Amino acid sequence: MKYTFGLLLFALLFLYACSGNTSSPDQDSESPPPVAKVDDGKGIGEVKSVELNEPLKPALVDEGKSIYELKCAACHKLTDKRVVGPGWAGLTSKRKPEWIMNMITNVEVMLAEDPTAQKLLEECLTRMPNQNLTIDDSRAVLEFMYANDGLEVGN
Ligand code: HEC
Repeated sequence: MKYTFGLLLFALLFLYACSGNTSSPDQDSESPPPVAKVDDGKGIGEVKSVELNEPLKPALVDEGKSIYELKCAACHKLTDKRVVGPGWAGLTSKRKPEWIMNMITNVEVMLAEDPTAQKLLEECLTRMPNQNLTIDDSRAVLEFMYANDGLEVGN
């Protein structure tokens, strides 16, 4: 009797789990659930690994600063204060460099698929627009972010 009840409960749970699937229209209820991807913290995009400079390269920091002032400063402060997007202070210790560069160069996909980016969208309620930066541009901005977080800049 106990066994039957257990089975019934299991079946009910199973039905319930399947019925919650209405939000993904391209997937019929018969197909198995998608295998969860492991989040390695590097984000999604072209950037798979980044070599960091120690000390930071001044020319790259300067280039990143110019890009920041032109294309990012309207929404991002260099403190921890949020304006439209989160402030950048402490960013380089919170996120992997690959994640940061992928967020900058592949923001649409990041907002659609990366759990960390999605959480930010929930907090900020605005979608960061694609700023059309090249990978090299985003690398310069990353260098500037490290400088903003107090890493030593070379001569
Ligand atoms: C129109 C406003 C806007 C502009 C301009 C903008 N961003 Fe954003 N950014 C956002 C918002 C909003 C978020 C949070 C994610 C979301 O809601 O889309 C964000 C998130 C980020 C994050 C992740 C921050 C974190 O705390 O992890 C990075 C990195 C970033 N932006 C880089 C840039 C760079 C680099 C530029 C300039 C080239 C830029 N953004 C320009 C609005 C903007």
